[in-house]
Amino acid sequence: MAILVTGGCGFIGSHTVVELLNAGKDVIVIDNLDNSSEKSLERVKEITGKDVTFYKLDIRDREGLEKLFTDRKDIEGCIHFAGKKAVGESVAFPWEYYENNIGGTLTLIDVMRKHGVKNLIFSSSSTVYGDPDSVPVTEESPVKKCTNPYGSTKAMQETILTDIQHADSEWNIVLLRYFNPIGAHKSGKIGEDPNGIPNNLMPYITQVAVGKLEYLRVFGDDYPTPDGTGIRDYIHVVDLARGHVLALKKFNEKGGVFTYNLGTGKGSSVLEVVNSFIEATGVNIPYRIMERRPGDIAENWSDASKAERELGFKAEYDLKDMCADSWNWQKNNPDGYKTIS
Ligand SMILES: NC(=O)c1ccc[n+]([C@@H]2O[C@H](COP(=O)([O-])OP(=O)(O)OC[C@H]3O[C@@H](n4cnc5c(N)ncnc54)[C@H](O)[C@@H]3O)[C@@H](O)[C@H]2O)c1
Repeated sequence: MAILVTGGCGFIGSHTVVELLNAGKDVIVIDNLDNSSEKSLERVKEITGKDVTFYKLDIRDREGLEKLFTDRKDIEGCIHFAGKKAVGESVAFPWEYYENNIGGTLTLIDVMRKHGVKNLIFSSSSTVYGDPDSVPVTEESPVKKCTNPYGSTKAMQETILTDIQHADSEWNIVLLRYFNPIGAHKSGKIGEDPNGIPNNLMPYITQVAVGKLEYLRVFGDDYPTPDGTGIRDYIHVVDLARGHVLALKKFNEKGGVFTYNLGTGKGSSVLEVVNSFIEATGVNIPYRIMERRPGDIAENWSDASKAERELGFKAEYDLKDMCADSWNWQKNNPDGYKTIS
């Protein structure tokens, strides 16, 4: 049986494909390459020595999906990463975000159910907790109104998938709420390859380290946290990827919606990440304190105990590993996949 991975050429998708192949799974990737390169899958083959079937296909392309599910009767379930994910861009282009993320998921789910494939793992996000009343957040913490369309698409997709499962109890839906994935595969062959100026902390730090950006902008040092900078739960992308392999066991359930935080259960401030990076790599990171960024919250980290209890998931890598591995990827591939022939 095969696992269909949507968005499998992207950052988290490519790392998950490695772990799936290492676990002996047969993998089919579809991706429209909107925010990624097929070269990531060539690197996946170099790492694992195994083949991945790839189709350049958009999840909104109903005919293409129909053909895929007709040709590949061995698909047992889907890990669904495909989606647009830039918070700022989603504020400027809400229609594009709703159409791609919501429209795409509706089409995918419809074709899956027509072909009797009713197992899905969905990439959700800690963003659904909004500005939490208290930390750490558990899966029971309230889902709050999001401050941007990207976050709203995640919360809406969770609702849609839950409603569909309630109407058709054959579905196994696993909602994985990721905290802040950083790091890269130990080999340095795959990693995060953002377009333009990165939104997220770690790719920003590594681009400063490699000399592409002059200094790191730290948004706010007056939050009610010990050093005044924002606190997040950073998780190594390889740990996150392993979480997906463990979540596959839910495909054997007799139907249900299963929600898990995937985090380390530990929060780190922006300045702690900067200092860990300097310690792990020996590369200095100049930074400047800027105004707070609208929509940012002071702190959010996970209660990671449910995933440990029910999936056997526990993050293994610490912040220093995450920094060292992010740097190993960036310094070996300063332009990401763009200059790889
Ligand atoms: N990286 C994070 O910090 C984070 C945190 C929480 C949740 N997530 C979610 O995890 C998933 C993967 O994130 P990532 O960081 O790997 O992002 P990414 O942009 O690297 O990967 C997403 C992939 O989906 C593809 N894609 C987008 N729209 C598509 C469509 N209509 N049809 C087919 N392919 C399409 C892109 O080309 C890309 O390869 C996303 O759904 C994202 O929202 C990411």
